Amino acid sequence: MKILVTGGTGYIGSHTVVELQHKGYEVVIVDNHSNSSAEIADKIADISGTKPTLEIFDLADQALTADFFKRNKDLKGIIHFAAYKAVGESVAEPLMYYRNNLVSLMNILEGMKENNIPNLVFSSSCTVYGQPDELPVSEKAPIKFAESPYGNTKQISEEIIRDTLHASELNAIALRYFNPIGAHDSSIIGELPLGIPNNLVPFITQTAIGLRESLSVFGDDYETPDGTAIRDYIHVVDLAKAHVVAVSRMIDSNMNQKFEIFNLGTGIGYSVLDVIKSFEKVSGLKLNYKIVDRREGDITKVWANPDFSNEVLGWKAERDLDNMVDTAWKWEQAYRGKTIASSH
Ligand code: WQD
Repeated sequence: MKILVTGGTGYIGSHTVVELQHKGYEVVIVDNHSNSSAEIADKIADISGTKPTLEIFDLADQALTADFFKRNKDLKGIIHFAAYKAVGESVAEPLMYYRNNLVSLMNILEGMKENNIPNLVFSSSCTVYGQPDELPVSEKAPIKFAESPYGNTKQISEEIIRDTLHASELNAIALRYFNPIGAHDSSIIGELPLGIPNNLVPFITQTAIGLRESLSVFGDDYETPDGTAIRDYIHVVDLAKAHVVAVSRMIDSNMNQKFEIFNLGTGIGYSVLDVIKSFEKVSGLKLNYKIVDRREGDITKVWANPDFSNEVLGWKAERDLDNMVDTAWKWEQAYRGKTIASSH
């Protein structure tokens, strides 16, 4: 059975392609490499033994996308990752974010309708909850006013999907990610941000490997036990497996309704300092960091109530924080071609 993975050479996309192939699915990737490289398709083949078909074009181009779907009417499902996702950049370039993220989605939905391709898994985010009023946060929590254009594109995308499904035979599952970190156990694929990392864990590993001078911890005056902000970090392989469960759920017609939404988190919140301590434990290194001012737009604390995903979707995160950080560190060392002897 053939599955389209848009953004399949990206961080979460590439890990999901590996898990799909592991389950016996045939995978077609569409990517424009705006935040990834074509060599990732070869690295996927190094892991799974099968190189996914790769078509390189921009899904925001309506004609190219319509043509792709006409040529791939036998798709059984689509997992849609392809989107811009840097919170800070979206504040500086809102129109680029709205156009890219929303037009791509609409082109995909049109292609599905026109070619009777029924099943969509959509990459959403816990950002839609903003700072939840109560924790842990479940799928029933209210959607809050988006803190960034990036977060708003996720909210609007869910609404576009909901309205399109209402008027069609399509099904969809939106997966609201918490904070994906870590890398594949082979260290062949991992998180590879272009330029200076926005996210915490790649900044930690790039600091430790000597690429960055030191990590800036954005604020230690939050209302949390150690003053630093709390997030629900989830291993990217656990996240990838959830996508296989979701697309299989739709193909096997096991859904309870046309549009289902699931939180993908561990249910455990860790602070920035917790993550740093975990890194120092697994690496044996002392991380160079300094406390600086808060980053604009950051929320204080969020972690998932994973019960609905565990009980209804039938998926549960398995890996702990040390494993997430350890695989991220092993990937960084493998990618930079050197290992750092532990300094302790
Ligand atoms: C985590 C914590 C920072 C960097 C965002 C998006 C989310 C998803 C993941 C795309 C925060 C602190 C970070 C640094 C730091 N994006 N931090 N120094 O902001 O929780 O989530 O990225 O899918 O949708 O909202 O992730 O990794 O940027 O930050 O102290 O150099 O680490 O303040 O508390 P975030 P993050």
